[in-house]
Amino acid sequence: MLKSRFFALLLALVPVSALGSVNLLDAPIDVHDRASLQRGLGLYMNFCAACHSLQFMRYSRVGEDLGLTVEQVEQLIIKGDAKIGEPMITGMAKADGTAWFSKAPPDLSTTVRGKKGQEDWVYTFLRSFYVDESRPMGWNNTVLAGASMPNVLWELQGIQRATFEPAGEDGCAIARVGDNCISGFVVQPHEAGRLSPAEFDRAILDLTAFLTYVAEPARLQRETLGVWVILFLSFFTLLAWLLKREYWKDVH
Ligand code: HEC
Repeated sequence: MLKSRFFALLLALVPVSALGSVNLLDAPIDVHDRASLQRGLGLYMNFCAACHSLQFMRYSRVGEDLGLTVEQVEQLIIKGDAKIGEPMITGMAKADGTAWFSKAPPDLSTTVRGKKGQEDWVYTFLRSFYVDESRPMGWNNTVLAGASMPNVLWELQGIQRATFEPAGEDGCAIARVGDNCISGFVVQPHEAGRLSPAEFDRAILDLTAFLTYVAEPARLQRETLGVWVILFLSFFTLLAWLLKREYWKDVH
């Protein structure tokens, strides 16, 4: 127990998998944790749905999968006048998105596609915004350098600033920016967010779990079905073995 906690802590601290030149954090999500998915959905609706769409996901489906009643979906989840059977599309026109952010916010239905590393990418991306006055929105991101998405979660996280050091020969622990490495992130006490760092990481984990579920909703059923299939097969193996024993009893 202590050992696994220790490893969990290590995983949380050390970027373990690398994609390109940026080190990604490991996202220990659990798509079968319904409470986590529900919190992720809530965060998504409050902080992401104004810009992004989930064109392959309907409100009704998300409600069913996450154990919400029709009333809960209609009153708590849907913003604006969308109907429960409709896909979760943003009200923002693509042209406006392009005009405002120089790039229209992409659809997020398939951003995490069961592909290994993709949930780590999203998890790290959402935690890795830092202040950069040279960018139009005042934010940059280590995972998507020059991202046109602002840090929409800054009120929760606080204003995160990067610390730099000259790049050595061993590469950078977090990310490289020109001749420097980003050596860490700091949030000054007077710029702190509404959540503690641990609470914020938890929130990002919930959001990442939700987007992972959205990318492959059938996975929820498939994996629970898998358990039954294995139980069923084990049962028949046992039955076959008992039968065989019964038959051979007389032969010996
Ligand atoms: C104010 C509008 C806006 C909001 C709100 C917003 N985003 Fe974005 N997002 C963007 C834009 C614009 C991009 C494109 C960035 C780029 O490619 O430079 C983007 C890109 C992304 C990407 C990268 C997708 C890809 O395939 O490259 C992810 C993941 C993402 N957003 C997740 C989120 C999540 C999760 C939230 C809610 C916490 C959120 N966004 C809220 C505007 C927004």
